[in-house]
Amino acid sequence: MNRDLKTLVSQMTLDEKAGMCSGLDFWHLKSVDRLGIPNVMVSDGPHGLRKQDEKADHLGINESIKAVCFPAGCLSACSFDRELLHTLGDAIGKEAQANDVSVVLGPAVNIKRSPLCGRNFEYYSEDPYLAGETAAAFINGVQEHHVGTSIKHFAANSQEFNRMSASSNADERTLRELYLPAFETAVQKSQPYTVMCSYNRLNGTYASEHPWLLTDVLRREWGFEGYVMSDWGAVNDRVSGLKAGLELEMPASGGATDEEIVRAVQDGTLDEKVLDQAVERILRIVFTWLDNREEQEFTLEQDHALARHIAAESMVLLKNEENILPLNETEKIAFIGEFAAKPRFQGGGSSHINCFRVDSILDEVKNNASITYAKGFFADKDVYDEALAEEAIEAARAADKAVLFLGLPDSFESEGYDRSHMRLPGCQNRLVEQILKVQKNVVVVLHNGSPVELPWMDNVKGILEAYLGGQAAGGAIADILFGNVNPSGKLAETFPYRLEDNPSWLCFGDPKEVDYREGIYVGYRYYDAKNMSVAFPFGYGLSYTTFAYSNLRLSADKASEKDTVTVSVDVTNTGSRFGREIVQLYVSDRTGAARRPIRELKGYEKVSLEPGETKTVTMSVDYRSLAWYCTAIHDWYAASGEYEIAIGASSRDIRLSTVLTFENSRVLPLNVTRNTTIGELLTNPRTASYMKEWRQKMLAVFAAPEGTEGAEETSTSSEAISDEMNDAMMLSMPLRNLVVFGTCSHAEVDKLIEELQNL
Ligand code: BGC
Repeated sequence: MNRDLKTLVSQMTLDEKAGMCSGLDFWHLKSVDRLGIPNVMVSDGPHGLRKQDEKADHLGINESIKAVCFPAGCLSACSFDRELLHTLGDAIGKEAQANDVSVVLGPAVNIKRSPLCGRNFEYYSEDPYLAGETAAAFINGVQEHHVGTSIKHFAANSQEFNRMSASSNADERTLRELYLPAFETAVQKSQPYTVMCSYNRLNGTYASEHPWLLTDVLRREWGFEGYVMSDWGAVNDRVSGLKAGLELEMPASGGATDEEIVRAVQDGTLDEKVLDQAVERILRIVFTWLDNREEQEFTLEQDHALARHIAAESMVLLKNEENILPLNETEKIAFIGEFAAKPRFQGGGSSHINCFRVDSILDEVKNNASITYAKGFFADKDVYDEALAEEAIEAARAADKAVLFLGLPDSFESEGYDRSHMRLPGCQNRLVEQILKVQKNVVVVLHNGSPVELPWMDNVKGILEAYLGGQAAGGAIADILFGNVNPSGKLAETFPYRLEDNPSWLCFGDPKEVDYREGIYVGYRYYDAKNMSVAFPFGYGLSYTTFAYSNLRLSADKASEKDTVTVSVDVTNTGSRFGREIVQLYVSDRTGAARRPIRELKGYEKVSLEPGETKTVTMSVDYRSLAWYCTAIHDWYAASGEYEIAIGASSRDIRLSTVLTFENSRVLPLNVTRNTTIGELLTNPRTASYMKEWRQKMLAVFAAPEGTEGAEETSTSSEAISDEMNDAMMLSMPLRNLVVFGTCSHAEVDKLIEELQNL
């Protein structure tokens, strides 16, 4: 239906319009019955429906309807599978339609700056390209059903501590390259109906009243068409927020902020047109949902099966020495750890789903008499219980293989606070060491929302990272352990050896001003630049089969701004069973025009291969794939020169690479002053050849006078001032020094500046 929203808004009273800009209660928008505006409902998100009927709260305290808990973002992102994420979105969209929910509050795409952020389990990645692609696929899946999404938390909300007041302080390039692109990609590829602004301040200004963020960037630059809602309680100053581009405040403000809006219009401090526009934007989304209601039927059982499939397609096999996995059903196996009976499969807080069913791996293997179970430790606390440990050690001793189900207790990571360390509970690490004394065939299955230190990693033979796999995690783990599914997930984040290795270590978690001092060097961008060993790198994951890469080719080896270059590579399954491989494309800037990470992910595809089968994987590279954010022009920029296009099985396992030569007709603006250095001018393609002559002149001035004094003095001075040193000094010299060192006059320097400027 084509609704005339402008006319509708013009029929609303000032009170009604102001009222539309905040919630009716915890989960509903207000209605205006006389004009046929209904009170629609929004619900969390992101990995299942958390629809609360009564006694609403935003921290997951009170019960919501029974629903399906799909794998959390930390796991589903490891699938590197857009189709799978689309299917996940599709299922949630259908559930939302069937439950009368108009907007699902997700996906959550904040960048994992530190492993400590309590909410990392909901977030996708340390890499903005992967986070953006994953989010866009999910959003498209949900919105196919005319149910909205709310991509969150916009922006730079990478810690929980003091999340409602702390300021994330990051420079423009860092924001553009790391913290904004996931939102940008999602807006451009999937146009989410709504964006949820974050609680925090961004460079001093609350995200909920940040005109640059909410209007200049989000709407004007990226073309966002929906409405912005606040995170629950994120509004600082309602009228400033409205002016900045925050249309909807959630939840209800008890009418207080509606009155502020009315007063501001009446006293002329708020232009009523701003209010009208906000209301129109909100109503457009309300009616998009209302006018496209679908009869949806879904069964919880089917979605449970889908949750299991998604989990199994995403879990990451980190280690498999001597092919300890897959397990053979006839082997004597000891399952150890309470997580085997009670898997930890979701995190605490607003994303907490009231599951209609939860599968544990013990349920899966209950008919298998060769499997024994010992609790070993309590899943929810860090207490070494001698009796439980002893029983587990005996079970391990008596078995052919021991599988240890380890993980973080709920209290270790949650929305609302950050972790204080990256360790597993000490009791679990101690038990691993004890078991290793009696059993060499040890596999560890991890249940955690974020990386943990693995002090015993060299001594166990297998590690499966199951993350928080949703309510069907137990089945998915069984599928992988027993080889019914060949693992194909890869890490969406780096596992450093130690917390202290993380780039944000020295500046994470400050109470008021959180300075993002590591800048663009987040995650693998940092570890690679430092050439640092890590436990497991970004993009890493094993399979029960092997893959060979060959025949990398580009559709053109030269390109310019408007071109898209196709990158093709052949991948062969060289093992003996079906498998899926995630092929990653990384770009390295070799032009030297700016300080850049060693390589950055700019493409990926997941390919399914029968044994012996070869398929060609195709990806593409465009201007943006090569570019960095240049603050001098406030735009993306790729310099002319060479770029390495590398294909990897992980960020640290580059299999093939080639070179793309790029020609950019746009040159960066030149602002030559008396303080511009000679070196700068010599490296700028516009001025380089012109300056060569001056370089020679300067070198002549600096050259040690030959044969004028005694031989002894000459050799001493040439030792003290070498040609290399002369050259280096000259390169870092500002133009004004041409005068000091007698090469020319001030007037001549100014003339030179003018000539350079006009080149
Ligand atoms: C969370 C949001 C969530 C909202 C509603 C807030 O505390 O930060 O992610 O959508 O509550 O539950």
